[in-house]
Amino acid sequence: MSDVIRLLHLTDTHLLGDKYAKLRGVEPFATSQAVYAHAKKHFPNSDGTLLTGDLVHDDPHGYAQVRDIFKSSSTPVYCIPGNHDIPEVMYSTLSDKPFEISQVNPLGHWVLILINTWIANTADGELGYEQLAEIDEILSEYSTHHALLCMHHHPVQMGSEWLDKVGLRDAPDFTACIAKHANVRGVLWGHVHQAMDTVIDNVHYMSTPSTCSQFLPHSADFAIDNKPPGYRTLELLPDGKIITAVKWL
Ligand SMILES: [Fe+2]
Repeated sequence: MSDVIRLLHLTDTHLLGDKYAKLRGVEPFATSQAVYAHAKKHFPNSDGTLLTGDLVHDDPHGYAQVRDIFKSSSTPVYCIPGNHDIPEVMYSTLSDKPFEISQVNPLGHWVLILINTWIANTADGELGYEQLAEIDEILSEYSTHHALLCMHHHPVQMGSEWLDKVGLRDAPDFTACIAKHANVRGVLWGHVHQAMDTVIDNVHYMSTPSTCSQFLPHSADFAIDNKPPGYRTLELLPDGKIITAVKWL
């Protein structure tokens, strides 16, 4: 592994049990496969792939398709659940290599922290008091590492009324927690099916388009955007800088 950590961020694959079934006008299996192929070709030699939730669309049989697409990866495929996942099935189905479900993943000068924001029977998410305390502890323990925090739900407002009702419930507690730790460099999420890239208090906040259909940014109500499938590349530098880009197919 070189000093620079190269990661792919693919999110919201929304895979179904039936490979050829459509969701919102697209075939999630085909678009996810196409995105992953594009990513591997145009961003080779990555050190890992992050899947930040909604791996499947409410269908436990979708995890077989997740395996099918990513099982041949020679580097870790980090998985966290989103509101459309079934966490107990996700964690049991994707518990072996190359899949990685550990909360704490040190990588050279960096540590990737996988955060589970899933709560039952709702589209929004929550860290909860216990996990917040764990994150606080991990950030202290890894104070000499740069930290990238990955989750499904958005911890900042997206400026879209319907989406901002289904974000991270305890976002203010999260912000207060990471403000105590100077080693937090980036926060990365899915869920919103659109790209955001902003720096707040020296922390890089990033959302990434879905590998299937996108949501229209700044829309008051649910609306599909006509943008193609997409993904994000990340280069984590030894000095804590993040070089990142969103790619559209
Ligand atoms: Fe999603």
